[in-house]
Amino acid sequence: MSVHKEAKKVTTHTLVEMKMRGEKISMLTAYDYSMAKIFDAAKIDVLLVGDSASNVMHGHETTLPITLDEMISHAAAVIKAVDRALVVVDLPFGSYQGNSKAALNSSIRIMKEAEAHAVKLEGGAEVVDSIARILSAGIPVMGHLGLTPQSIYKFGTYEVRAKEEAEADKLLSDAKLLEEAGCFAIVLEKIPSALAHLVAQHAKIPIIGIGAGSEVDGQVLVSHDMLGINKDFSPKFLRRYLNLYDTIKGAVEQYVADVKAVDFPNQKEQY
Ligand code: KIV
Repeated sequence: MSVHKEAKKVTTHTLVEMKMRGEKISMLTAYDYSMAKIFDAAKIDVLLVGDSASNVMHGHETTLPITLDEMISHAAAVIKAVDRALVVVDLPFGSYQGNSKAALNSSIRIMKEAEAHAVKLEGGAEVVDSIARILSAGIPVMGHLGLTPQSIYKFGTYEVRAKEEAEADKLLSDAKLLEEAGCFAIVLEKIPSALAHLVAQHAKIPIIGIGAGSEVDGQVLVSHDMLGINKDFSPKFLRRYLNLYDTIKGAVEQYVADVKAVDFPNQKEQY
């Protein structure tokens, strides 16, 4: 029996019910036990173990280098911390594209080794076979359209996507395809808010935006960005709720000074 049985857990069905009653869904990324514990206590609805871990946890320039083993390690730590939130884990680059069997195997590893609740992958028509195969094993799938960072070398920039009609039309048809394939939700990243609104209006599944305006069913942000842990990423869509970079730096500077001055530890801080 689970030791966490008292908490009312968020499920993929909860999210659909939230959309139906017009309650917005809150989602943040998490990559480790301690942060995930705080976010869950704050009643976040969904935690995404995003492949943005490649940037903010591993220091890579893009999301491409992070491995499936690394994602599973982050996910397992997050899952241990969570009583209530739904935990979705990104399939990393190279673990699902162009090969539905590999996609299923990668997803099974995430569900089995990390005990995650769902997976997320990027793309539309190109990955629909993989989505169908993952779903056939009973694993819930979240889609991701618009700016899909694993395709950065195809796009060439991190600019707003789907501003032109042809790309907007493809996004609309991809969103429909993902819903028909059985995705339980879709993330829309960095697209015009009017287009995101259109997708959310027509979809029965929740549409979660990041840089996609307010007329969607929920919002997701990278936790390191909204907490101000990194200072060098300031897109227009980002609201910083804290400036943790300066707060932590200040605390560490004070600690260094206290150690040097033999002010720490004092009489009360020793045995
Ligand atoms: O990896 C990630 O953090 C994401 C969010 C930007 C949605 O996919």
